[in-house]
Amino acid sequence: MERTFVMVKPDGMQRKLAGEVIRRLERKGLNLEMARVLQLSPQLAQEHYAEHREKPFFANLITYICSGPVLAMVWSGKDAIALTRMLVGHRDPRQALPGTIRGDYANTTTENLVHASDGPQAAQREIQLFF
Ligand code: CDP
Ligand code: MG
Repeated sequence: MERTFVMVKPDGMQRKLAGEVIRRLERKGLNLEMARVLQLSPQLAQEHYAEHREKPFFANLITYICSGPVLAMVWSGKDAIALTRMLVGHRDPRQALPGTIRGDYANTTTENLVHASDGPQAAQREIQLFF
């Protein structure tokens, strides 16, 4: 059993797509373990996205991710990390395939509805940060 951190971002919440994200992960057979609605402080946002601190889009990303409430969740299941990443789809809307969450609902790289941990270390770190 593997655990991962998934977050419905502010645009997903605003567009009322939190239920859609949950539905897709549940139908894949993953288990919702914990959930919490909160608005990120700039400090928490910077910590969460620390790996991108030097990137040109960082300031924009922090402003966006703090712009409204998010749904922070822990999901579990066999291969939970790889499966959620697959269901989420590619960051670039031109490469995100139809059938993935981003492929079906996102048309920009920044406002792309959902975050999912990209590996076991990130999952552990992000779960600790939010729960
Ligand atoms: O979210 P994911 O792990 O798929 O992508 P990432 O490369 O780790 O980037 C994290 C987040 O930064 C993305 O989901 C976007 O919201 C944002 N981003 C951006 O605004 N502009 C970029 N050129 C790349 C990423
Ligand atoms: Mg990432």
